[in-house]
Amino acid sequence: MSAEILDGKAAAARLRQSVATGVARRTGGGGRPPGLAVVLVGDNPASQVYVRKKRAQCEEVGMLSRAYDLPGDADQERLLALVDELNADPAIDGILVQLPLPPHMEAQSVIDRIDPAKDVDGFHPVNMGRLALKLPGLRSCTPHGVMKLLEDAGIALAGRDAVIVGQSNIVGRPMALELLNARCTVTICHSRTRDLEARVRGADLVVAAVGRPGFIPGDWIQEGAVVVDVGINRLDSGKLTGDVDFDSARERAGWITPVPGGVGPMTVATLLANTLDAAEARDPL
Ligand code: GUN
Repeated sequence: MSAEILDGKAAAARLRQSVATGVARRTGGGGRPPGLAVVLVGDNPASQVYVRKKRAQCEEVGMLSRAYDLPGDADQERLLALVDELNADPAIDGILVQLPLPPHMEAQSVIDRIDPAKDVDGFHPVNMGRLALKLPGLRSCTPHGVMKLLEDAGIALAGRDAVIVGQSNIVGRPMALELLNARCTVTICHSRTRDLEARVRGADLVVAAVGRPGFIPGDWIQEGAVVVDVGINRLDSGKLTGDVDFDSARERAGWITPVPGGVGPMTVATLLANTLDAAEARDPL
């Protein structure tokens, strides 16, 4: 068996198109374009790549993109003051502070400072809490993007045995809540999990989010399972690769995301969709 590919690049292009239509509907009706502020602190090369993509795609769909680049030695008070300014700015609907922050900063207090109505990353405790309670709110881009990708492919989720490898605040935890809300039976695995292999073998939906290239061998994958690889790891050769050994997993899975071209593009497109949603909620036409 060779898995069907979950083509995130194509699904993200469709999502961006629908966001562009929503933006045009607002601006064509005399409204202002949704505004996204993307804040980068320091010069982490991977963050620079992601931030560039976010800003460029924001402009492509007709939104206002505001870029804020702070030096790596900026103090936390300066970043908090910028967040306060953006919270109060009527042209800005979404605020994204790219993570990780430099080690002298404390990410949670920065996230806590963002107005939950502008928290297009869905990282604020209010939005995480609303997700946990299955209430509407801004939902974290990567897990929300994974849900959109599975839905786009018509993959039914209710009743599945889902195993998430990774317990981060950005992916593992909100992913677990998303899948629980979709009525999966959810297991979150982490570095202290006993017999990870048995857990993965028991799953008909696997989400890998550990950030270690080829961490999950293909022969752990159940025949026909859905495999979602959130890992984006750059090898010394410069090649990007996921957390799952793609070539061997593909022989067993029913569906699988490639890296690159799987989850990554969905994360950015979902950020745009969240920004449009935030604009519509703050400023209905
Ligand atoms: N760093 C890695 N992924 C993300 C994300 O989705 N949002 C932010 N703000 N930083 C990240």
